[in-house]
Amino acid sequence: MSLDGNIKSVKNDFLTDLDAFQAQDADLSHIRQKYLARNGLIADLFKQLGQVSNEDRPKYGQLLNQLKVDITEKIDSLSSSNDSNDKSDSVDIALPGKHYDIGSVHILEQTLNETKKIFNDIGFSIAYGPEIDDDYHNFGALNFPEHHPARDMQDTFYIGNDSLLRTHTSSSQVHFMENNEPPIRILSPGRVYRNEDISVRSYCLFHQIEGLYVDKNVTFSDLKGTLEYFAKQFFGPKTKIRFRPSYFPFTEPSAEMDVYWGLNSESDHRITKGTGWLEILGCGMVNPEVFKSVDYDVKKWNGYAFGLGIERIAMLKYGIEDIRLLYEGNINFLGQFK
Ligand code: DAH
Repeated sequence: MSLDGNIKSVKNDFLTDLDAFQAQDADLSHIRQKYLARNGLIADLFKQLGQVSNEDRPKYGQLLNQLKVDITEKIDSLSSSNDSNDKSDSVDIALPGKHYDIGSVHILEQTLNETKKIFNDIGFSIAYGPEIDDDYHNFGALNFPEHHPARDMQDTFYIGNDSLLRTHTSSSQVHFMENNEPPIRILSPGRVYRNEDISVRSYCLFHQIEGLYVDKNVTFSDLKGTLEYFAKQFFGPKTKIRFRPSYFPFTEPSAEMDVYWGLNSESDHRITKGTGWLEILGCGMVNPEVFKSVDYDVKKWNGYAFGLGIERIAMLKYGIEDIRLLYEGNINFLGQFK
């Protein structure tokens, strides 16, 4: 047979094979193999070029090249539309599923919730005060002398002449007592602001929880008992705590409570300044001067107050070594506390 005849018969075969494929009687990879493989029908035709006269060879060469391109394009286009049909028609149940990240409650919120729960159980309810306050509620009514260093611009963010971002939640005590009569047992959480250098231990904003208890015949032992109960509930029954005498204008006597963190690693030394102890709160018996500023009868009522740092207790409980991690919103860090 001549090359002409052979070309024609390959073309016809190919059309028949395509019909078979459309009728789903044949498979494209076999067709591709049959025509385009190294020993396939097209390669065969190219071999036959040797038998053609020198004169005709370029013409047949071109013809064969075109045939090869046509067949290749046809097979390619069928196989890609075949692939996309497959995708829409079937589900590959062996593929891994889609991954959805599930959010978690921020560790500070979790710590706050846990603390609220512990104090709710012994009768404390929640009361909130304003974050933007005035000098009187943040300082004056809490018995800060006129020129007390805490009023200094270095610590307090002033917004206007008599408007500031509260530096502690103790100001909530004053708001609450102005509007309520004793007996009082409240917990007042919230955000506070201080113009401090940012470091592993301090940040320009943080969170406190203020506690206030006002009744008749309240003693310092009541205060110690309550805070020890809290520490053991929050950190575990074996928790070691200590009280150190301190000074706050709004309490007399005043103390600070420390929790034992340990001195096992270099960072324990750094974070506890070499003592092993970390201060978590200030407390004391409410100074009668504070009661006077809210018109409470100081002969009838007394009480205790305390203020604890939420960041501090969270860092202590979960071994977080840098306070800044709590504000960065890093999912890898926060996701650990789900
Ligand atoms: N307001 C204090 C501070 O920010 C904390 C504090 C100390 C609160 C003693 C109190 C208290 O209620 O009695 O450092």
